[in-house]
Amino acid sequence: MLVTEEARAAAVPGATMPQEPRQTDFQLVRVKSTWCRIKKGEALSNDEDEITLSEAKIGERISEGGISWTIEAPIYFCYKVVETYNILEPSNTTLLWGHITDPQETELATANKRKLRRFIVIDEVVDKLYGSKVRAYFRENNVQHKILSLPTTEETKSMDLVLNILQEVQSFSLDRRTEPIIAIGGGVCLDIAGLAASLYRRRTPYIRVPTTLLSYVDASVGAKNGVNFLQCKNKLGGYTPPVASFLDRSFIQSIPRRHISNGLGEILKMALMKHKGLFDLLKNHGKYLLDTKFQSCSDFAHHGDAALQTTRIAIETMLEELAPNLWEDDLDRLVDFGHLISPELEMRVLPSLMHGEAVNVDMAFMTYVAHARGLLDSEEKEQILQCMRGLELPVWHSGCSWTLIQRALRERLKHGGGQMRMPLPTGLGMADIFNDTSEETLERAYELWVKDCKPKVKVLPQA
Ligand SMILES: NC(=O)c1ccc[n+]([C@@H]2O[C@H](COP(=O)([O-])OP(=O)(O)OC[C@H]3O[C@@H](n4cnc5c(N)ncnc54)[C@H](O)[C@@H]3O)[C@@H](O)[C@H]2O)c1
Repeated sequence: MLVTEEARAAAVPGATMPQEPRQTDFQLVRVKSTWCRIKKGEALSNDEDEITLSEAKIGERISEGGISWTIEAPIYFCYKVVETYNILEPSNTTLLWGHITDPQETELATANKRKLRRFIVIDEVVDKLYGSKVRAYFRENNVQHKILSLPTTEETKSMDLVLNILQEVQSFSLDRRTEPIIAIGGGVCLDIAGLAASLYRRRTPYIRVPTTLLSYVDASVGAKNGVNFLQCKNKLGGYTPPVASFLDRSFIQSIPRRHISNGLGEILKMALMKHKGLFDLLKNHGKYLLDTKFQSCSDFAHHGDAALQTTRIAIETMLEELAPNLWEDDLDRLVDFGHLISPELEMRVLPSLMHGEAVNVDMAFMTYVAHARGLLDSEEKEQILQCMRGLELPVWHSGCSWTLIQRALRERLKHGGGQMRMPLPTGLGMADIFNDTSEETLERAYELWVKDCKPKVKVLPQA
């Protein structure tokens, strides 16, 4: 018998309790189909073939008060972020099979004679632009499909749309083992569909196909999903990554110029926090990237493939920061730069600022904070502001008042375990996290920021 006698005794009311608490650590092994505990370090049976050892552990503590168990269960996630081209070409099978990692599994899946089925959530605007190609893709691949077209905007990013998706998924009668939900759209669509998938039968695999620059470099890269709740940004959500994100830059050509700037805001964040080379790319080729909407360049001689380099570095630097901290257990996160004040600001002034724009207003103010702390000299501060303007990003907004900043930072303190955890640039492409920025420094930075960045009111000459 693998369960200890002490444990049995302690579990029985009235049984003799030991005086001193006793701690025993167990590993878990599966013998044939039954899992059981063995004391840590205890030898396993010779019949190794039949035995699976889990990484999970159970710690058992028996004391006079009773018994308690502590469970340590490492959870493993594996997902792919794949740069791809012509994803809607019917001959390209990425969207159908690209999420499967094991070649044997792909062979089995493709050999299966059962008709393929897919449930697709698509942003309404994207549906108007690409819906006929999406339908042709599934039709020509003989896939039984349901396409749910939704108005996924920041204002509609709520549980209502999540429930709407779940109802449709239920009536489609999805097989959650083999039929991943596919989300096609901007960050809002991917976040809503991702949350619905993570709730359906507790976790249904899903695939992200980003169609905006911001979702290409940011919302498709990490594990988070979510919706707004009670006027608060992304208040409900979870950390369930997709099985794969398939990135096809060609979608970006149809987004308006302002949306390119919006995405550049999140790219600039990574540049300022950790990559001077990325900052230089944005500084030198920003206008070109805006003009060409990140499509393959005809002017290769002057710009190289600036679009490809920019998106790749943005994704790689983001993955470096996210992968070791997928569940945000460590609250000291450089990727929070631009996200201390912007959630409050974005929701307060909806729909006047897009996500990346609100992030940039926050980053512009924080650049002044870094300068006020002596982390950036005037020239570095100016270079950053100039780069932001070159990318056509707002560096100030009337809604970003001193009162709003104070309120947002109080929230940050509350959710940061009593610490501010303020990421700040300490040079171009370098940063650190600070907990000791004084109110006086913030106020000084605010005054200078308003003085420099608030547009001057033009006084018209009197008639
Ligand atoms: N989960 C994450 O890790 C994460 C990371 C960053 C941002 N986000 C979220 O992403 C959201 C912002 O995403 P977004 O900037 O993509 O905004 P969005 O999803 O609202 O899209 C912006 C607009 O572009 C339209 N659109 C989408 N693709 C298009 C295309 N190819 N052509 C023309 N129009 C198109 C949409 O209809 C929408 O009106 C925010 O809600 C933010 O919280 C999530």
